[in-house]
Amino acid sequence: MLDYTNKVILAPMVRIGTLPMRLLALRYGADIVYTEELIDWKFLRSKRISNDILNTVDYVDQTDGTIVFRTCAEEKNKVVLQLGTCDAVRALKVGKLVTQEERPQHAVHPDIILYVAERISVPVIANGGSKEIEKFSDINKFKTVTGCSSVMIARAAEWNCSIFRKEGLLPMDDVIREYLKLSVDYDNSPSNTKYCVQNILRDLQETPRGRQFLDCQTLEQICSIWDLREYCKQKQSHYHKMGIQGRWQVSPSNLEPPQKKLKSVDMDLDDVSQMKVCFIRANFNDLNLPKTQLHTWAGKNGLKLPVYETQQIEKLFRTIITFDGKRYTSTFWEKNKKFAEQSAALVCLYKLGLVTEEQLIILGSVIK
Ligand SMILES: Cc1cc2nc3c(=O)[nH]c(=O)nc-3n(C[C@H](O)[C@H](O)[C@H](O)COP(=O)(O)O)c2cc1C
Repeated sequence: MLDYTNKVILAPMVRIGTLPMRLLALRYGADIVYTEELIDWKFLRSKRISNDILNTVDYVDQTDGTIVFRTCAEEKNKVVLQLGTCDAVRALKVGKLVTQEERPQHAVHPDIILYVAERISVPVIANGGSKEIEKFSDINKFKTVTGCSSVMIARAAEWNCSIFRKEGLLPMDDVIREYLKLSVDYDNSPSNTKYCVQNILRDLQETPRGRQFLDCQTLEQICSIWDLREYCKQKQSHYHKMGIQGRWQVSPSNLEPPQKKLKSVDMDLDDVSQMKVCFIRANFNDLNLPKTQLHTWAGKNGLKLPVYETQQIEKLFRTIITFDGKRYTSTFWEKNKKFAEQSAALVCLYKLGLVTEEQLIILGSVIK
């Protein structure tokens, strides 16, 4: 049983409260960290695995290979798992009872929390103060005005996790770097990592660097924006040698999707020239897009335009190009059909000798 007296707590946050963010919060000074809300049936269909490479305990969804919950010794006795239920009838009943005119943008009610805290004997945790919490001392103020034993913080930590530091807030880029290192160390999924960084960047996603970040699909690409490309490459190559398959590219082929889904979309790749290349939109302008280059070259040489055939598994796409009697594809699964066509066109350009490997590396497109 955790002691809830005089604690500063990372509140449960869907998709934010995964292992790297929880560890970061603890390292910055949080006493207790909540997981994101995890749905009961996801646990029921997962298998507990002791991961000796990462030194973690993983609950792995047996249907798609995703990690439902990953934990490690560093958060032992400090982590609280929030379990949700998907009983819609019960949820609706509760919804009709409470928490609808009150939205996140509305002010918190410290006086009501104080009223409750003064009348009960169990430790009460104050929550909801993020909009007034800009530094560590504001946490203590919130605790005092609400008369509570502890304070739980969500959004202020989501935006800058160093809010837990008694010594003061750290610059956003420092926090992102520390967060990314933990994501690499604990093989966090690129999509979850990207989501968390997006929520730190917020309005800055509109800047050139933000747009470059939004195009990223791998941990290595994200890390390279914060000068951690080498760190990421070395760790991932080490993990690879140790036998971790790797979740650093968003590829359903690593995840063994249900057999029947595969059958309906399977393509014959025997005679297809393949390479793992991804398309990063920020590296091209409208005139030098891979497809445009390929079509221009075809026109100049009197060849028929390429034919594109795209395969989709869940939310990921791969295209096979047929051009001048040969077939080409990138084995990297892209987030949309347009990107899949462009990455396949890049492979085709490379195989035709129209783009060199050095150029592909400069474009950040080759995935080893
Ligand atoms: C992105 C996000 C995800 C959240 N997910 C959960 C959740 O999974 N379970 C939960 O009980 N509350 C969740 N919350 C609510 C927070 O835990 C918290 O109660 C609320 O944001 C008010 O605290 P704050 O003012 O410190 O943000 C979430 C809030 C945010 C911003």
